Amino acid sequence: MTLNVLFLAAEAEPFIKIGGLGDVAGALPETIHKISSKIQTGEIVDIRLVLPFHFAIKQKGFKPELLGKFGVKSCQGVIECKVYCSENSGLPVYFLDGDPIDEKSPVYSREPILDGYKFVFFSLAALGLADFLNWRVDILQANDWHTATAIYALKKLSKNVSFLEKTKSILTLHNLPYMGFGVQQALSDYCLPPAKTESLPEWARHSPLPLGLRYADQIIAVSPHYAKEILTPEFGCGLVDFLKTRRKVLDGILNGLDTEKWDPETDPLIAQQFSKNTLSQRLVNKRFLQHQFKLEKRDDIPLLTIVSRMDPQKGIDIALRGLNYLKDLSWQAIILGTGTPSIEDMAKALENQYPDRVRSVISFDNSLAHQLYAGADIFLMPSRYEPCGLSQMISMRYGCIPVARATGGLVDTIKHVSHKINGSTGYLFEKPYPSVFASTLQRALSHFHKPDFWQQLQINGMKIDFSWEKSAQDYIEVYKALTGRKI
Ligand code: GLC
Repeated sequence: MTLNVLFLAAEAEPFIKIGGLGDVAGALPETIHKISSKIQTGEIVDIRLVLPFHFAIKQKGFKPELLGKFGVKSCQGVIECKVYCSENSGLPVYFLDGDPIDEKSPVYSREPILDGYKFVFFSLAALGLADFLNWRVDILQANDWHTATAIYALKKLSKNVSFLEKTKSILTLHNLPYMGFGVQQALSDYCLPPAKTESLPEWARHSPLPLGLRYADQIIAVSPHYAKEILTPEFGCGLVDFLKTRRKVLDGILNGLDTEKWDPETDPLIAQQFSKNTLSQRLVNKRFLQHQFKLEKRDDIPLLTIVSRMDPQKGIDIALRGLNYLKDLSWQAIILGTGTPSIEDMAKALENQYPDRVRSVISFDNSLAHQLYAGADIFLMPSRYEPCGLSQMISMRYGCIPVARATGGLVDTIKHVSHKINGSTGYLFEKPYPSVFASTLQRALSHFHKPDFWQQLQINGMKIDFSWEKSAQDYIEVYKALTGRKI
């Protein structure tokens, strides 16, 4: 018998990627599938990914096979859902389409209600898929608010559908503040009234994420530290008391990194490939950047970088303000990202203020991102909160030392430099204030001038195994524990 897992996400690489969720939903099911196909005897995990057939995927000319259609019930009648199928390295992938998805709207629209209709329909359609495929779902794994409705609906509908009778649910939590506010009408149009539960505060009873958190059999945050942080007022988004009632089913599993795509030994996008054994060659990448950006060509000036979405979550403003405290020290900085206009303006303003040493590139540029990881000395990641974070793992793998806020996955992945170097890999600061950031960066800048010390930090980071296998194994353990099955 197989252990069947239906994995729901709003986005997944290589089909569509907007943010970190796309990386995870692209890599995690694929890795679980890979591990599972190597199992010789006994049960295997049959994991299948389901995505909305977004307009943006169709635009790429991608043509999956049409398998058929079925109806999704709403209070107004039945809405047709078309099922398409494809695969990614052997992993079966389904794309669901229907009027609420077929809109020529972006993956995430600016209007909550449009997103509401799209993702509520998608979540219910994903449950309908079990019946359509004649496929018993042992585990339903939803991700973030977009697909959390499936967990709420599962509680309400499962008894009528034999394929879902024994289904256990997991909600993987990537970002608590995005709860799916403003989609209540969409829920009620699909006959999903607000929950009657007392444990959720009233304001949260009609938003998909809190509903999913309430009814999931297991909640997995994307890092162990974030799983603890959300039980505190600073990170709990008003749900601390409720989340405490779910403590027993709340855990954290650290995301992994695509170590093939992000490998300084083979990366085709960087000027000079290198490894921890040929670290001196890394300098070619720094010189390349200094040349490209018309910065003073000196190996002894530390080159700082930010590669980030410019979103308040990422705390870019904290770093930009903090750099002013260190104007008397020698450093250069290249900032890459796009997003909130006021943060983009701040980055531009810093370049105007320090034309001889700051460059701000307001765009999304994948090749430049690779080159920055490979060539800069210090990676700045001052996030206000960071459920897991990927860039700090990439930067360490590329020998670029992170200076980051001590929050979420940053705490689980970066080992702070204390008195002795031991296994340290970077610098963490506690409070999200520019002055605190600046004093931590100042410490890093002074260590940069001790080459042996610095090289050891780089090697420590480059040695860490961030690959997806460990996370995938941890998820398989959760599947086993929830179903009582042995694999
Ligand atoms: C969200 C979080 C980020 C995490 C990603 C993938 O984008 O903000 O910290 O790495 O999801 O789980």
